[in-house]
Amino acid sequence: MRARRRLRSRDIPNVIALGYSAALRGIDAYIVRVEVVGVPTTDAGIHIVGLADRSIQESKERVNAAVRSCGFLFPTYKVVVNLAPADIRKEGAAFDVALALSVLAMDEQLDAARLRDIVCLGELALDGAVKPVGGVLPAALGVKKAGFSKFLLPADNLPEAALVDGLTLYPVRTLQQAVQVVLGLSDLGVRSGGPTAQDDVEPIRYIEDLEDVCGQERAKRAMEVAAAGGHNLLMIGAPGSGKTMLARRMPSILPAMTRNEALEVTKLYSVSGLLRHKSRLVTTRPFRAPHHTVSATALAGGGSLPRPGEVSLAHGGVLFLDEMPEFPRAALEVLRQPLEDRSVTVCRASSTITYPSSFILVASMNPCPCGYAGDRLRGCSCSPHAIRKYLSKLSGPLLDRIDIHVEVPRLSYESLARPGGAECSAVVRERVERARAVQRARLGGEGCNALMPAKKLRDVCVLDDASRSLLAAAVAKFHLSARAHDRILRVARTVADLAGSQNIAAAHIAEAVGYRSLDRSFTQNGL
Ligand SMILES: Nc1ncnc2c1ncn2[C@@H]1O[C@H](COP(=O)(O)OP(=O)(O)OP(=O)(O)O)[C@@H](O)[C@H]1O
Ligand SMILES: [Mg+2]
Ligand SMILES: [Zn+2]
Repeated sequence: MRARRRLRSRDIPNVIALGYSAALRGIDAYIVRVEVVGVPTTDAGIHIVGLADRSIQESKERVNAAVRSCGFLFPTYKVVVNLAPADIRKEGAAFDVALALSVLAMDEQLDAARLRDIVCLGELALDGAVKPVGGVLPAALGVKKAGFSKFLLPADNLPEAALVDGLTLYPVRTLQQAVQVVLGLSDLGVRSGGPTAQDDVEPIRYIEDLEDVCGQERAKRAMEVAAAGGHNLLMIGAPGSGKTMLARRMPSILPAMTRNEALEVTKLYSVSGLLRHKSRLVTTRPFRAPHHTVSATALAGGGSLPRPGEVSLAHGGVLFLDEMPEFPRAALEVLRQPLEDRSVTVCRASSTITYPSSFILVASMNPCPCGYAGDRLRGCSCSPHAIRKYLSKLSGPLLDRIDIHVEVPRLSYESLARPGGAECSAVVRERVERARAVQRARLGGEGCNALMPAKKLRDVCVLDDASRSLLAAAVAKFHLSARAHDRILRVARTVADLAGSQNIAAAHIAEAVGYRSLDRSFTQNGL
């Protein structure tokens, strides 16, 4: 299968070998042509051009070692590799296999013609093992889109690629197996069938269900309204009152994911390398809870090998900021763009990448530094000055984007000890889905009240006299800003949609005003 013939520099083959691989850009992949040519100079080794990142430069050594350890010969002359298209920066180790095969083809150790219709992806270990890589699902989609039908990939990544139908997949564990495939000597090929019927987004199962939470009816209601209108939510309560427990159950009451959403989320997890060995679309909504020490890069995404950040891993689901006042300003700044644009742009040396990041923000905080302000069972020991200082950490653009504030009081022992009777998430989710359907019909597309354009607000939120005067009174009493006024309208619209009501009634306004408790604290504390 391999030509043992050793080439001397004067008979360097006069061929360009072409192989194909795939590279990521955001959560999509494009085909990269690996062009390899031998050059008659004595400085043997691989020379890579075509905007190759340092991480690709390192693959020279891996390819060299892997080729030798698999019993092939590495050329004794200079090998020039061009990665085309040359104007897009490429990074990562995923080109190793395509590179090795193209070098062998150029050196006439295997037939170059056989590389023409197959896309090869995988990282090589020094011993010739093919290691899994991230982004195989987008790569497989890219392979199909580009009109190829054969895709050679690391065996560990097979389940992911199998989510794309109509490809012949060649899962390999070693460079030797890859050569066998290219030579047509292998029967490793499997036909991909696409997602299985179970993937059809229907049976959603969340381990954490709202029925596990005793009492807290008001907080649960606020979660339902938030889920129904796509509103961001802030929970205020003493330590141990159950804020984290409630937040973790937020994904379970959000509407079932559409197929497109599921595919998008699965692609994000694929690119992040979090999908290996998984053969299912991600059909449960994500819940991400980064710690307040998280770096801006880990939150937003990026890095030298670009990866989606927490704001994108929460796409389609919930981003939970526990103890929001503890997050440094810089981190909160990062959230502005995704909250505004529903996507995040990561700037790189030569390009920018955009990842989707549309999530519901759920934040939690204590009412004061000691945590017990307003607690019925235990006194607060904080001075008014300390409380003011604590609240002032919150002001600013982020708080502006949180429509709903809700207190989560500590429950007495009796109410905790009296379990049962709580609604389960599926029942709440049904009401949420009905309210979302109303909003889609009204706003078109995937529109929801939280994201509706401001100019639409007046048309959609028609008030009767009673609700208008109630809103006016609230604005005057709590010195509410124009922004807060608009937020109340949006939330009231959602409350009305949950009630199946065409018009916004005074009761709907009253409930929405009740979700502005922080505005009231600010007024009381002179902030
Ligand atoms: N309503 C409730 N029903 C059942 N269990 C509860 C409830 N509230 C609290 N618990 C129990 O108390 C534990 C602590 O709750 P949780 O961690 O959610 O509180 P927290 O408000 O996030 O506290 P902290 O401010 O310390 O983060 C939960 O793991 C749960 O076991
Ligand atoms: Mg907590
Ligand atoms: Zn206190």
